[in-house]
Amino acid sequence: MAANLIDGKAIAATIREEVAAEVSKLKEEGISPKLAVVLVGDDPASVVYANSKKNAGTKLGFEFELFHLPGSTQEEEVIALIEKLNGDETVHGIMVELPLPKHISKERVMKTVSPLKDVDGVHPINRGYILSGEEGLFPATPESCIEVIKRSGLPIAGKHAVIVGRGETVGKPLVFMILKENATVTVCHSRTPDLAYHTRQADILIAAVGKAKMIKADMIKPGAVVVDAGINEIDGGICGDVDFEAAKEVAGWITPVPGGVGSLTTALIYRNVLKGIRLQRQQQ
Ligand SMILES: NC(=O)c1ccc[n+]([C@@H]2O[C@H](COP(=O)([O-])OP(=O)(O)OC[C@H]3O[C@@H](n4cnc5c(N)ncnc54)[C@H](OP(=O)(O)O)[C@@H]3O)[C@@H](O)[C@H]2O)c1
Repeated sequence: MAANLIDGKAIAATIREEVAAEVSKLKEEGISPKLAVVLVGDDPASVVYANSKKNAGTKLGFEFELFHLPGSTQEEEVIALIEKLNGDETVHGIMVELPLPKHISKERVMKTVSPLKDVDGVHPINRGYILSGEEGLFPATPESCIEVIKRSGLPIAGKHAVIVGRGETVGKPLVFMILKENATVTVCHSRTPDLAYHTRQADILIAAVGKAKMIKADMIKPGAVVVDAGINEIDGGICGDVDFEAAKEVAGWITPVPGGVGSLTTALIYRNVLKGIRLQRQQQ
């Protein structure tokens, strides 16, 4: 294997230590950081995510409350709950699990979460802050793509980053987040002709598409940093958007799936709860 493996689990463990230390300090000041998760309906993956967030948060010393509402809950009731959580000083972060049932407007619900408690970084104000460079709460998966590079001691400034995918969750916010790190950025998507031409120019290649193993070894510049945000289910397991086994012979650094980008996301959501507390204090 030519490439250095970027160990997302080890990086996540370091971030968890940093977060747990900050939680201890806050507790000494009499603040018990709390995340509230709103889950509407019984989507099996969302139930699993909510429970794993609870376990992870409890281990880090956070308070956690799950508001699990029936799938028939009306939009107004969800809005009323979020408004109540916005005004609750003991709640520092709010996360709404997606997908919501079809009769509920995702956009309206997202806009209702206070931007200072929006730990998922989905409120339009936080999205705007990504562009303006102001401090805000930013989404965990693109943040994770940047963290795995930085914490491996690899430079971003001055490098050519090529992002494949412009989805709302990963690719699009990442474009502006990595631009803020002074990369030169190219964005590719389903309408990009000759994708391989672009990916071969990348010093840093980030895949955020959702198509199993679509980035082949011959699409990678030798020595490049390859970050795979994709999660695809195949043969009862998961794999990324990069054809890992072949790509690791060409890349200089590479994240595996599982064990890469996805390993950091829960820790970064909790780090956002702490950032939210700092932003909330500045507003007081
Ligand atoms: N690691 C984690 O914790 C985590 C969290 C969230 C998501 N994910 C994963 O990240 C991936 C992206 O998620 P997302 O929500 O951003 O996806 P998305 O909204 O579905 O966006 C996918 C993007 O890929 C582009 N695309 C599709 N086919 C392509 C092709 N053949 N060549 C080039 N680009 C192509 C699409 O282009 P168009 O815009 O032109 O349609 C779109 O911009 C998924 O695998 C998802 O499971 C991981």
